Parts: sequence; C-alpha cells; structure tokens
Amino acid sequence: MCGIAGYIGNLDASSVLLVALERLKYRGYDSAGIATQENGELTIGKSAGRLKELQDIYDEQGSFGNCGIAHTRWATHGTPSTENAHPHCNTDQSIAVVHNGIIENHERLRRQLTDQGAIFQSQTDSEIIPHLLATYYDGDPIKAVQACIKELEGSYAFAAIFADHENRIIVARHGSPLLIGRGPHAMMLASDIPALLPHAHDVCVLEEGQIADIRNDSVEIVDADSNNVDPAFKKIEINFNEVSKGEYDSFMAKEIAEQPEVVQRIIDDRISNGALADIAVEVDLSQIQHVVFLACGTSWHAALLGKRFLEHYARIHVEVDISSEYRYRNPIAAGGTLVVAISQSGETADTLASLRLARSMFMPVVSLVNVVDSSIARESEGALPLLCGPEIGVASTKAYTGQLTALFLFALQMAKAKGRLTAEQEKEAIDSLLPIPELVAGTLKNAEEHVLDAVEVLAPANATVFLGRGGEHATALEGALKLKEIAYVHATGYPAGEFKHGPIALVTNQLPVVCIAPQGAMHDKMLSNLEEVRARQGRIIGVGQSSDRDLKNLSDHLFPVDLAGNELLQPLLSILPLQRYSYHVARRRDCDVDQPRNLAKSVTVE
Ligand code: M6R
Repeated sequence: MCGIAGYIGNLDASSVLLVALERLKYRGYDSAGIATQENGELTIGKSAGRLKELQDIYDEQGSFGNCGIAHTRWATHGTPSTENAHPHCNTDQSIAVVHNGIIENHERLRRQLTDQGAIFQSQTDSEIIPHLLATYYDGDPIKAVQACIKELEGSYAFAAIFADHENRIIVARHGSPLLIGRGPHAMMLASDIPALLPHAHDVCVLEEGQIADIRNDSVEIVDADSNNVDPAFKKIEINFNEVSKGEYDSFMAKEIAEQPEVVQRIIDDRISNGALADIAVEVDLSQIQHVVFLACGTSWHAALLGKRFLEHYARIHVEVDISSEYRYRNPIAAGGTLVVAISQSGETADTLASLRLARSMFMPVVSLVNVVDSSIARESEGALPLLCGPEIGVASTKAYTGQLTALFLFALQMAKAKGRLTAEQEKEAIDSLLPIPELVAGTLKNAEEHVLDAVEVLAPANATVFLGRGGEHATALEGALKLKEIAYVHATGYPAGEFKHGPIALVTNQLPVVCIAPQGAMHDKMLSNLEEVRARQGRIIGVGQSSDRDLKNLSDHLFPVDLAGNELLQPLLSILPLQRYSYHVARRRDCDVDQPRNLAKSVTVE
C-alpha cells in the first residue's frame, strides 16, 4: 500500500509531484506529503486528509525547487495524521524519506536510535529510515543507504533526498515495487507507471535488493552485492487516456463500461484464426495433474470460476486457496502440480508470498496478472497478461471479467495440451466465447434502468444477501464484496443451497436478497430459493433473463441479463448489473466509489 514518487527536471517539482500523487492515490489516500530540495535546504509540506489539502498548502506557500519526493499514505503504523504523513526526516531535517512497505524490526531500531539521540516525530515504522541514514551518512548517500538497508527487516521501496546533494534522489527496493522513469527533460520514480506520465517515456523496473542513484541526467544502479548493473529501460506503452476518467464521473464507472473491449482484447490476443493461440509459459501443461489457484479478494472469486472451467474442459483436480491462508499452512507439493497465481496488481503481498512458498517447494508457478512488470509476473515461470489496461478504481470490475475470460481460455489450453479437447470441442468452446463482448455491452445497457429503479427503493437498506448456485456462487460473493467495499453496506454472498442452514433467519421484509438465477442447470433450484425468501417477505432482486416469467413473478426487481449460450460463461454477464447496483447505491449514500474508506488498490502489506 502507499504510493511514492520523485522528480528531477526543469519544472517545479511540487506541481509535478501533486499530479503524480493524484495518479497514485488508489494505493492509499489518508494523508500525503512532499519534500523538495533547493539551495542546500529541504522543504516539507504534508497534510492529513485528501490531496486537495496538500494542494492548498502548495498554492499558498509556493514552490521550492526542481527536485523532490512525494508520498500518499495508507496507514499501517500510527493514525492518519499530519505527523504520521510522509516524508519523514532525521533529527536535523537534512535527510527526507518516503517509504512504501513495512519495517518489521522498527521497534528495536527506534529504541536503539532514540538512545543514540534521535528525536522521532511520528509513530510510523518508516521514520526509522531517515534516522538510520543519518547515523551512517558521511557525505556519501549511496554508502549510507547500503549500510541502512542491512539493518532493515520487512519490505520497502523508499526514496531519499539529502539537503547537501542537489538534483539527486537515492532509491532502494526490497519487496515493494519501484519504477524509474526517464524523459527528455526529467527523471522520475514512482510505485506505478501512470504516475510517471507524461514526463517519462521510458521505464526501468528496479529489481529486488537494488539501489539506484538518480540524477537529472543519469541513473546508476548497484545490486545487493554492490555490483554495477546497467539500467534496462523500455518504452512506456500506456497512454494518458488510459489513466484519466475521460467523460466519466469516476474510474469505476469508466472501467465498468470498458468491459466489452477488455473481453474482446483478450479474445483477439489468445485466439488466432478461430483456434487457440500458443501461450508463453515455460511449463509443459500436458504433464499437469493438479492445479492450485492462489489469489485474494476479487481475484479469488475469479479463481472459483477458473476451477469450474478447468474441471469441465481439462478434467483435472483443482484447488482454490486464499493466498493469506495458503502461505501459513503446510501445503502438500504433489508431483504434477501447477500453481496459478491470479492478481490484478501483481503486487498483492499474500499472493506473492504464497507464490514464493510454492516455488520453494519446486512447484511451477504461472500467473495471470494485469500489471505486466509486477513482482508476481516477474517471479512466475510464465505470466499471462490480462490486457485490461490500468484499473484505477479500488473496486475491481474490468479485471474480474478479464480474469474470467483469460481463465476460460487457459482451461481450454490446458485441456488441449492434455489431449482432452477435440478440434470440434475447441471450436465449440471458442464460438461460445466470441459473442460475449457484445453480450456484455448489451447487458450493461439493458440492465441500467432496472438497476436504478431498485436503487431508488433499496439504497437505504443496511444489509443485503446475495445468493447463487454453481458458477453464480462466485457472482454472489463478488456482488456482495462490491456492495461492502464501496457502499459500506453489510453484505454476504452465499451458496443458495446453504441458505436454509442458518442465514435464512436474517430474512425480514426489510432485507434485500439478490437471487442470481439465470437459465441453466441450477435455475429451478434457485426458483425454490426465491420462493423461500418470498414466503418470509424478503425483498427480492432477481438476476436472470427478462423473458423468465417465473423469475419475474417472484422478484420485486429483475435485473435482466442476456443468455451467454455456454452456461459456464454466464457469470461474465450476471456480475454486470451487480457492479452497477453497487456503484449507484454508493453514489446514493454519498460514498467515494474510487477511493472507499480504509482501502487501497494494491494490498502490498500483510
Ligand atoms: O491485485 P489483486 O488482484 O491481487 O488484488 C486482490 C484484492 O486485493 C482485490 O481484488 C480487492 O479485493 C478489490 N478491492 C476488490 O474489488
């Protein structure tokens, strides 16, 4: 969590960094700050609350120099307050640091540094870093950073500026992402690519254990053993439109609307001349007997559907594990097991740790990631890009439908590699996927007025239950997660067959119950669940075909979804009205859909 940025160039650093922070605030947004360096002095500006308040400080106090570092925070140690906001400084304010990660041995180091005379201003773990740097600093910032990181336990990407070094930023990385950007008139650093735009055209990913010395016209990198490393810059592929809201009021609204093109992009990439295109993974899929999916949050919901796709087409045994559970178990590394890590950001700490655990047990790991240069992608034997474009809204929407599409195609690849998919079956499966982009567009359009009608009545409800069976159980979980995280409505997703084993006690005439009941094998079973809810006067939102009279009769509101044709693909459509429902409920309740309270886009700490 937290986002860091830095700039050296010919523009006012604070103005550039405020824009960079705006692009990083999805990583945390409870406080923010900037440190600039000019004429042998550091100037610090910070504030608790939204970025606007930091902007006001700079509008009032003016700017100080062309070199600076910045931070937007998601609190781990210490409350969100101005004192705890980064940058943090050493006692005489000659070194300023911004940090993303957690320093696990901070208490011991704080005691040690305090005994040596350091005066701490905050409750954060991060403030350790400038004080430690000061104890090792003898005029050479690189040596100070090298000595400092030997003492740090935990994870960090940090950037430091020194009052007596003009136009120079030193960065170090271990466990948290850090990118260096290069442009014709500037050098930058950031936790993520959008924050480098538009000043940088090329990007270099700082690797684990590396330290970089960034100046206005050069970058020098040394690795953990102090060897010089050539910086490997490559062109930045994303453009400004991808990281702006355009005509939409929020990134979430934009990203929901982008789903037809996301699904189409994945289809175009993975299907060639009507057949599956080769995928670049260094694993022989034909030898795989068993798959373990590892993921968190929305990506875990996608994995639940990935299991269904794989079991159906490849007929192999699949386990789905929540990364934060897997990493603390003693999992079995059976021969022939493939681990598949799923992550939008590619930086989720628990998924990364699980991946490392799996690799330490010699299991091959393939990942499905949206951010291609992410840690999870780089540490996998093969990374299949999700091609969704940057997802900036904290609530994952287009990455979910992208993951489902990619997982469906991955299941077909696996089935084909194992000789369990005939040419005819391959064609049939692909043909069932091709209409999905259009159906996604149609479902989003057709559902909107029905969603708005339901929101009008149900937005004040303080709890909601989501029920689904089969693949739609994942939809129920995902629908509930969306409503919780952006509208702050307590919501629970349940397999409908389990409802009468307890949760049905919740039903009153005040409780909205979303019943996901499209046509298919589970349809009639779902109608029985609707009957049970109705008998107890629950307020039913049915999700299914508009031509389904039984569903319509049992529902107070019907969210129409098109019929996917292939039942396995139906969840790609069923989730769409539920994304829009959460979005509208959140707006009605005056919630910030892009930056819900207490959350951050990438969960890079445990
Ligand atoms: O980047 P990842 O896919 O690894 O993130 C996993 C979860 O943190 C993420 O899906 C989270 O649950 C979203 N906020 C859900 O909308």
